[in-house]
Amino acid sequence: MKTVDFDVYKNMLYEKSGLVITTDKSYLLESRLAPVIKKWNIPDMVALTDKLRGIPDKQLVEDIVDAMTTNETMFFRDQKPFDKFRDLVVPAVLKAKGPNCTIRIWSAACSSGQEPYTLAITMKENAAKWAGIKFEILATDLSKEILDQAKAGKYSQFEVQRGMPIMMLVKYFTQTGDTWTIKDDIKQMVKFQNFNLLDPMDQFGTFDCIFCRNVLIYFDQPTKGKILDKMSKRLAKHGTLFLGGAETVLGITNSFKPLEGERGVYVHSDAPPPAK
Ligand SMILES: C[S@@+](CC[C@H](N)C(=O)[O-])C[C@H]1O[C@@H](n2cnc3c(N)ncnc32)[C@H](O)[C@@H]1O
Repeated sequence: MKTVDFDVYKNMLYEKSGLVITTDKSYLLESRLAPVIKKWNIPDMVALTDKLRGIPDKQLVEDIVDAMTTNETMFFRDQKPFDKFRDLVVPAVLKAKGPNCTIRIWSAACSSGQEPYTLAITMKENAAKWAGIKFEILATDLSKEILDQAKAGKYSQFEVQRGMPIMMLVKYFTQTGDTWTIKDDIKQMVKFQNFNLLDPMDQFGTFDCIFCRNVLIYFDQPTKGKILDKMSKRLAKHGTLFLGGAETVLGITNSFKPLEGERGVYVHSDAPPPAK
């Protein structure tokens, strides 16, 4: 692909989603966009590029961004963040807000829903211990298509096998053939919403905990910095931010600092050290 053509996609993806693609990913562009070309009945990449040079159809642009973003996720991904949510976050919120409070959690970039549903299941599993606490889970993603999947709460055998413990699978899902559907009481605990992390976040109010995992990795430093700074304004003083294993705030923003001794867990940079 010619550099000028590649730049059409590079600039569009950066502007619409923050995604950075480099010329060595040119092959990825062509393979991922093949289904879009087919869906839209466009003869080839040259014709698609020409369409994008004019005033492209909004849905076409959305389909291209969707095709280029990575939706990889799984239930209980990395396990530890969910253990830490149970053992560190909830006690810290209870200390700050008192019993019978509402704990608000944001799963930003939730993909097909495994992350927020894992949080909801964690809450159900600890329901006796956490009686009196009200949980609110907001789950957002840029992709409307992936959000539709998340809302449906239907997963293949392969998807549930990747992280869902068998005991919880039979407890919280119903099976029809090879499809496992998450039960309504878990589904109802999560509110899904379409949201671009590049946009202002003021409308969301304040969260006690933010999961923003495995999405910043696709952005450049200035974009990561802007998103983290906006998120710091949406996180309560006692709040906790979880990032993915390959992500950090270090060298990107001064709004957060790592929680001592806890990988992937961040608090406000002026938060007091945790009580020993
Ligand atoms: C790799 S998945 C991460 C899912 C989940 N957080 C996890 O760790 O398993 C990344 C998700 O980020 C979403 N995404 C990419 N750019 C985004 C943006 N600018 N705003 C919101 N979501 C975005 C993608 O649609 C995708 O579903």
